[in-house]
Amino acid sequence: MFDVRRVREDFPILKNGFIYLDSAASSLTPEQVLQAELDYYRNFRANIHRGLYKPSIQASEAFDDAREKLARFINASKDEIVFTKSTTEGINLVANALDWKQGDSVETTLFEHHSNLLPWLRLSKRGVKVNIREDYSSFSKSSKLIAVGHASNVLGSVAPVERIAREKGDSLLLVDAAQSAPHFSLDVKKLGCDFLVFSAHKMLGPTGIGVLYIKRDAQKTVNSPFLGGGTIRAVTAEDYELTHFPESWEAGTPNIAGAIGFGAAVDYLKKLGMGNVHAHSKKLAEKAAKELREINCVTVYGEKEFNGIVSFNVKSMPAHDVAAMLDESARICVRSGHHCAMPLMKKLGCNGTARASFYVYNTEEEVEKLASAVKDVVQLA
Ligand SMILES: Cc1ncc(COP(=O)(O)O)c(C=O)c1O
Repeated sequence: MFDVRRVREDFPILKNGFIYLDSAASSLTPEQVLQAELDYYRNFRANIHRGLYKPSIQASEAFDDAREKLARFINASKDEIVFTKSTTEGINLVANALDWKQGDSVETTLFEHHSNLLPWLRLSKRGVKVNIREDYSSFSKSSKLIAVGHASNVLGSVAPVERIAREKGDSLLLVDAAQSAPHFSLDVKKLGCDFLVFSAHKMLGPTGIGVLYIKRDAQKTVNSPFLGGGTIRAVTAEDYELTHFPESWEAGTPNIAGAIGFGAAVDYLKKLGMGNVHAHSKKLAEKAAKELREINCVTVYGEKEFNGIVSFNVKSMPAHDVAAMLDESARICVRSGHHCAMPLMKKLGCNGTARASFYVYNTEEEVEKLASAVKDVVQLA
């Protein structure tokens, strides 16, 4: 049984009294994740995979265990999981690691976060064709890569990834799951993707750690982006032999505490149940969208609120002013601006929106407070 009052007790930061409606930018962190990281720093702080003494062995086991948890979270194998810094880094790694040739093409959409757009746009300077689709219906079957966001960080809508995978032909498929991994039970086998990326900090975990899933079959299409400590089997003064995947992709000392914290975050989410997590954020976003739509002069973007996100504007008031007033008058934290999705803003016909995003610790009362505070903003607009 999902009990939001009980969940809130795990987030000491909420005692500060603000209403946090910006989890799509970065979520809050529960005590269990903080404790997992502290435990590492306090009790077995050492580097991994190198030391033959107890703290190093314990740290290595905790790090490997985190990789296993992340693999299970998306129904992958642990040798398909690379720890990265973030979703953005994961996408850039793929963009840099594929062997692009003059005339290759990459397909993406207008709905993307800049992190899933700019790495591809840059390739156009190297003779790669970049096709930006306005919907999900007509991807080429022979592009080198199709790169789609699973859930929009502006509209909360969900892309038909499984269908795209069925129709993709020879193209590789990359899924930006930054906004879906926090809300859905993901299964890379069902999704049918070759690459999938997401960040811990949007799903109760620490900042500075993310996951890049690379399907075993796709691993031969990419070259290790960085080389150094931990990536080799043997080195001579003249040459080297790389070790196996994923270690061959994780040069240098990784974010050990971050990985352990990420493992604790997915433990926490799984304990709540991803079905409950999704249902809760969806219920709050639907309530928010309904209440905001009833306010005169408020525009709500998007038709359905699948993953806890509601974007809106108040008359022609700049979104930043709306956000600042909500903070000032009611201690409500919402994001404002173009949300790193300028092409989508252009399509929506605005410069930016205010965006409320909901997660496991938010309540119906908070939605009501948001609606009431927006009514006050409308009076002043
Ligand atoms: C859909 C989407 N993709 C990518 C990103 C980038 O994530 P990160 O900043 O963790 O790299 C975000 C962040 O808001 C996002 O919403």
